[in-house]
Amino acid sequence: MSDASTPTTQVVDAPVKSDELVVNVTDLYAGYLPGINIINGANLTARKGELVGIIGPNGAGKSTLLKAIFGMVKVREGDITVNGESVVGLKSDRLVQRGVGFVPQTNNVFPSLTIEENLQMGLFQRPKAYAERLEFVTGIFAELGKRLKQRAGSLSGGERQMVAMSRALMMDPAVLLLDEPSAGLSPVRQDDAFIRVSDINKAGVTTIMVEQNARRCLQICDRGYVLDQGRDAYEGTGRELLNDPKVIGLYLGTLGTD
Ligand SMILES: Nc1ncnc2c1ncn2[C@@H]1O[C@H](COP(=O)(O)OP(=O)(O)O)[C@@H](O)[C@H]1O
Ligand SMILES: [Mg+2]
Repeated sequence: MSDASTPTTQVVDAPVKSDELVVNVTDLYAGYLPGINIINGANLTARKGELVGIIGPNGAGKSTLLKAIFGMVKVREGDITVNGESVVGLKSDRLVQRGVGFVPQTNNVFPSLTIEENLQMGLFQRPKAYAERLEFVTGIFAELGKRLKQRAGSLSGGERQMVAMSRALMMDPAVLLLDEPSAGLSPVRQDDAFIRVSDINKAGVTTIMVEQNARRCLQICDRGYVLDQGRDAYEGTGRELLNDPKVIGLYLGTLGTD
């Protein structure tokens, strides 16, 4: 599924896994500073079980869109629903309760805490579920289960990314938001990061992934969006976007060509 040398033959048009909308972003406007919108009328959906990719140039607003879904950026117009209910205006802790797990691009683990303590932090709202969730998470990230007492700060970048994803998964999220899980990793570790994201999704977790590594992202996604200047410029299955001449010319020519 992840052989970069033959992307078009590796991708299978996945049928929509379910009609049930987990995340629905409609005509969203959002930004940091008064009068300046970074998100300019963006639309995005994630159905239950889907792996959705967001690609696009630097500064397009990809991280801002994830932060807006997670209640970290002010929404000015439009709506965001999670499992059918609007979450606009809710703070991040409430978003976690509504089933949104977010892994930011950087500073996503507590380095002075052990792996185990990081995972416990992920479940502070539901301590009784710890054992069950630990089993789920170490089923995907077996190596972490063997090193629970190790400090997160002593781990490699790729291992930290695994801890960060695991921490978000401890809450059994309805949707997992990942901001550039492959960023800053060596090529081999990047491959591993994409495989792990696939594994998470195959375990049934609805996932929205932002990636600079556009081709690799589209190869593993059910559907993707190209975000440009805060708007969804293109939407389609991973295969459709990988084969769209406009998308290739504008966004895949130099981006993420492994
Ligand atoms: N905390 C912030 N305050 C003000 N502007 C910001 C902040 N974070 C990002 N921006 C601006 O928002 C725009 C989009 O940034 P971002 O969402 O990080 O893009 P991407 O993730 O697609 O590279 C950029 O112009 C960036 O400078
Ligand atoms: Mg970003």
